[in-house]
Amino acid sequence: MTADRNSDLALREADETAASPAMSGAPSRPHHASVQPLVLALPKGRILKGAAPLLARAGIVPDADCLEESSRRLRFGTNDPMLDVVRVRSFDVATFVAQGGAQLGICGADVLMEFDYPELYAPLDLGIGGCRVSVARPVADDPEEDWLRYSELRIATKYPSITRRHFAARGINADIVHLHGAMELAPMLGLSRLIVDLVDTGSTLRANGLREVETIAHITSRLVVNRTALKTRPEAVTGFIARFRAALAG
Ligand code: PRP
Repeated sequence: MTADRNSDLALREADETAASPAMSGAPSRPHHASVQPLVLALPKGRILKGAAPLLARAGIVPDADCLEESSRRLRFGTNDPMLDVVRVRSFDVATFVAQGGAQLGICGADVLMEFDYPELYAPLDLGIGGCRVSVARPVADDPEEDWLRYSELRIATKYPSITRRHFAARGINADIVHLHGAMELAPMLGLSRLIVDLVDTGSTLRANGLREVETIAHITSRLVVNRTALKTRPEAVTGFIARFRAALAG
């Protein structure tokens, strides 16, 4: 991170200290608190469900509605006055932590592979959210057809970087259709020949007439940490890393 980015971060922290909790929407806490709580970014959806028991074993108890998908709140307090939780999209966990808005986060290795943020340190494989990033094609395609013979293929995905790298290594130029969800629709609606997406049970592929043809990477979720926070608040940040490590061992 550059000196400018560091000073931006320091300014933002100073602003946050000055802002009243009521104005910022943050959970209320004693006025004498001069050091801001750390922020842990959690992804919505399946990883959040898997993370809940791990958080409990780490002694982190977020406000009850944090784990309810129906809650519209985005920032939550925890049983630790020095830790707040924010709930964001899986891809955005990496961005919030890399930009220093959150100091800690949990996100899939797929997100880290896609963005490759230098500001992120991923010290722990949490062993939750297991799935894979795979290539899939329509079941109706000729199974004998070898797509490796093409020099260019149109592929729908939310992982343009992973997809380009994977196909470039096979001498294929991936012409990317960048979608953020429902990419299973792309082949049947003529947007692409193939898709690259997360596969867990495989039921989404089956329900949409697709089959997995190649696994690009096996994925689990990681604890991610902002490298600057690790230097500026080492005790607090390493304390939480140690709590997650103990939770995994226990
Ligand atoms: C992922 C992925 C598939 C589905 C696969 O989406 O994009 O749509 O899960 O799971 P399955 O193999 O068990 O059917 P997710 O539910 O994470 O939501 P998203 O579309 O917001 O990424």
